[in-house]
Amino acid sequence: MSKLSLAVEISGLKLRNPLMNAAGVLGMTPDILKRVYDSGAGAVISKSIGPEPRRGHPNPTLVRVECGALNAMGLPNPGVEYFVEEIQEIKKMGVPIIASFFGGSTQEFADVAYKLSRAGADALELNASCPNVAEELGMLAADAANVEKVTAAVRDETKLPLFVKLSPNVTNIKSIAVAAEWGGADAITAVNTSKGIAIDINLRRPILANVTGGLSGPAVKPVSLRCVWEVAQAVKIPVIGCGGITTGRDAIEYILAGASALEVGTAVMTHGLDVYKEIADGITCYMENNGFTSISEMVGLAHDYENIGVDNACLGMTK
Ligand code: SIN
Repeated sequence: MSKLSLAVEISGLKLRNPLMNAAGVLGMTPDILKRVYDSGAGAVISKSIGPEPRRGHPNPTLVRVECGALNAMGLPNPGVEYFVEEIQEIKKMGVPIIASFFGGSTQEFADVAYKLSRAGADALELNASCPNVAEELGMLAADAANVEKVTAAVRDETKLPLFVKLSPNVTNIKSIAVAAEWGGADAITAVNTSKGIAIDINLRRPILANVTGGLSGPAVKPVSLRCVWEVAQAVKIPVIGCGGITTGRDAIEYILAGASALEVGTAVMTHGLDVYKEIADGITCYMENNGFTSISEMVGLAHDYENIGVDNACLGMTK
């Protein structure tokens, strides 16, 4: 009987397991990213890096809400020139790093991608989907033609595996995923946060300084999972699932919906860094109980729902 393995390969990027931190969650300094990796993630993803240092929005930028969190950080980051050194430091620690990045124009996206590639990142994640900033920075993902153009410009600058992170805040995510694939993306990350708002009833005003923010955590899981399902039907490249993944059961749902790898964000706030190991253990449990030996055997199986008869889910999986 072959040995069970959680290892995955996404467009040439080999990972010991499918779990990564979602961009922006603990993704600021090399030491913190190293802790994420040591806690059991298969790779780490940096905070989104732009062409210049950026302060982001004033506080409050984060509020806990029912079943999740709303954030409106406004893409704070030290700028790509500074971050190049951080990537080199992370690489010296032996940690696989995916650099998340953004720009204010097609040229800026391409320039930042070029610099991050030369710095030694293992892969890039093009953030086409921040809901908290002006349109030219954030909601690129709402427009398929733009996504294709920007992805193609970045593709010309790098041979690294290129993930494009999409927004759920669009009418037709399939057409946008296809546009990214046509532009040369190697994988689609589905999805960034859902736009939301929280109100302080005593002050009678929105809680976040930016008024609206991006909702993450268990509250968004069914929406994000639906996005993974639709994107997996639309493209041939791998899909990376993101949105409310907290348990092994969540991870398996995403894999069965079509995700080849997974990003975990808000669960780190609620469960601490041990959550990576807990999720990996939950995946292993399901695989053992259902006779799977690799993640790839399970990817997208739920799409065949009319043809399979499964008696039971993981007998040993309690969460
Ligand atoms: C932010 O910096 O406001 C969040 C980043 C993102 O959602 O892409």
